[in-house]
Amino acid sequence: MSRKNIAAGNWKMNKNYEDGLTLARNLLVHSKASEALMILAPPFIHLQGVAEIIKGQAHIHLAAQNCHQKASGAYTGETSLEMLKSVGVTYVILGHSERREYFEESNELLAEKTNAVLESGLTPIFCCGENLTIREAKKHIAHVSDQLRSSLFHLSAEDFGKIVIAYEPIWAIGTGVTASPEQAQDMHQAIRKLIADQYSSEVANATSILYGGSVKPANAVELFSQADVDGGLVGGASLKAEDFCKIYESFNTLS
Ligand code: PGA
Repeated sequence: MSRKNIAAGNWKMNKNYEDGLTLARNLLVHSKASEALMILAPPFIHLQGVAEIIKGQAHIHLAAQNCHQKASGAYTGETSLEMLKSVGVTYVILGHSERREYFEESNELLAEKTNAVLESGLTPIFCCGENLTIREAKKHIAHVSDQLRSSLFHLSAEDFGKIVIAYEPIWAIGTGVTASPEQAQDMHQAIRKLIADQYSSEVANATSILYGGSVKPANAVELFSQADVDGGLVGGASLKAEDFCKIYESFNTLS
């Protein structure tokens, strides 16, 4: 995958089915298609309904918020990649900090899930990021580097080239506190350098690196205009069509 501008909306565990479909319809009506990708990650049971609404819209793609690493079988309550593919999902968010924290997803498990997503032909959106204690101890770059090394650097350059990275500092998620554009740029630059050192500058320059953590219409342009920030993974502000459309359209104002 070549480097792209992306606005991805992570609805998390919000909205009932009807409200979810209304949101998808409103996004379709109010967003102006552009070169940038809009990715919607609704809850699992909304996926098929949203897929039908966005059908034929080349700029809008569907993501799952998680998946199981095994192909099928006795895993009560889980959802396989084959099931996700069969309703039109093309991206899978992996390693969101909420899954790491509340569902104890380890770097090792995330390596397995990454392999499974790539094998199924879907695109992982791999999340990484530090908590406030790690940031205050100035160990954030080492922490994020370790997350990427442990879960992704076993991949071939070809497979790594298919991944989207999302840097999401935990202290900025759902808190209203956004990383400053400089803090985001510093980390994104460090991630790109790490990828260049591990693979090549071609692979690094082709990787889309999204920022997540209290992205809003008011700060999207400034964040996305940083040299190494290719877009955003948006939680709260993706639940309002007007806000998410503004975030998506903020790429149009970048030179
Ligand atoms: P937020 O969430 O935009 O509500 O901070 C971001 C995320 O968790 O992906």
